[in-house]
Amino acid sequence: MSTLRDSRHLWLLAGLLGAAALGMMLLRTVLMPATYGIQGPYRAEALAEIAAQPSLFPADATCHQCHEKVRHERDGTLHEAVRCAHCHGLAVDHVAKARLAAADPSVPIPPAAEWDGNFLTRIDLYLTKDRSTCLSCHEQVVGMPADFKKIDPAVHLEEQGASEPTSRETCFECHGGHDTAP
Ligand code: HEC
Ligand code: HEC
Ligand code: HEC
Ligand code: HEC
Repeated sequence: MSTLRDSRHLWLLAGLLGAAALGMMLLRTVLMPATYGIQGPYRAEALAEIAAQPSLFPADATCHQCHEKVRHERDGTLHEAVRCAHCHGLAVDHVAKARLAAADPSVPIPPAAEWDGNFLTRIDLYLTKDRSTCLSCHEQVVGMPADFKKIDPAVHLEEQGASEPTSRETCFECHGGHDTAP
């Protein structure tokens, strides 16, 4: 008789645990986003949402609309494939202002700023001769493809006889920003 009475505690505990498990499963179905887990531990529909966001990175074709001259300077050079944004910024505000100015010449187009040295800079439009913009692609570092045109800056500047090898703008003694061929 007494063993049966004591076992009631166990039934109660099992019942409570069962109810808690059921509650959690219910909570999980309510809280879990619809497409979670279809492709992995994330919402599958997030992929489409991100892909649908407008791209901020401007196509060179946008810049070419007004900068015919620069386009010709780069035509047929190896740098034709390097996007304007790498050296001038995203220029979102610049394009917007320039379009307004094209319709109404009294709208000013703000001049480009100097680059602040940050590759993730928030500066909309910059003009710079800072060598680090060139070296971000051309400095010889481990793992670069054998056939890519790369330099060891110290050796290159010495070999070519740069007159101011310590200058930040030293590359431009011999190379241009658009047609870079020496
Ligand atoms: C709707 C026309 C238009 C478009 C599109 C446009 N620009 Fe310009 N841009 C201008 C005008 C006008 C000026 C000022 C006059 C000049 O230097 O030709 C200018 C000047 C510049 C300058 C020099 C600024 C200075 O202070 O000397 C740079 C660099 C530049 N643009 C880069 C770009 C880039 C990069 C793009 C593409 C993302 C672009 N522009 C798209 C019209 C445009
Ligand atoms: C590899 C870097 C690089 C790329 C890529 C590049 N530029 Fe330039 N750009 C420069 C440099 C460097 C200058 C000169 C800055 C100075 O003289 O202070 C310049 C100057 C300019 C100027 C002002 C002077 C001029 O020549 O008219 C404009 C406008 C310009 N670039 C637009 C463009 C556009 C548009 C593109 C893409 C089609 C582009 N640039 C691609 C580096 C670059
Ligand atoms: C976003 C990357 C990138 C940036 C930034 C960049 N370049 Fe280049 N550059 C390239 C590529 C890609 C090539 C073609 C390389 C190849 O085919 O092996 C190239 C080629 C060259 C060449 C060889 C040209 C020839 O005709 O033989 C020179 C010189 C050069 N770049 C100088 C510069 C200078 C100077 C700067 C800075 C103003 C600069 N690059 C910035 C990517 C870049
Ligand atoms: C005193 C002139 C001079 C200076 C300064 C200079 N270069 Fe050059 N650069 C040259 C010449 C000339 C060549 C072509 C050499 C050759 O074909 O052997 C060249 C070639 C290159 C190449 C192509 C290398 C290859 O494998 O074909 C790159 C990339 C380059 N330079 C980047 C730069 C960068 C970045 C700077 C600044 C840190 C710079 N250069 C400074 C004169 C110079």
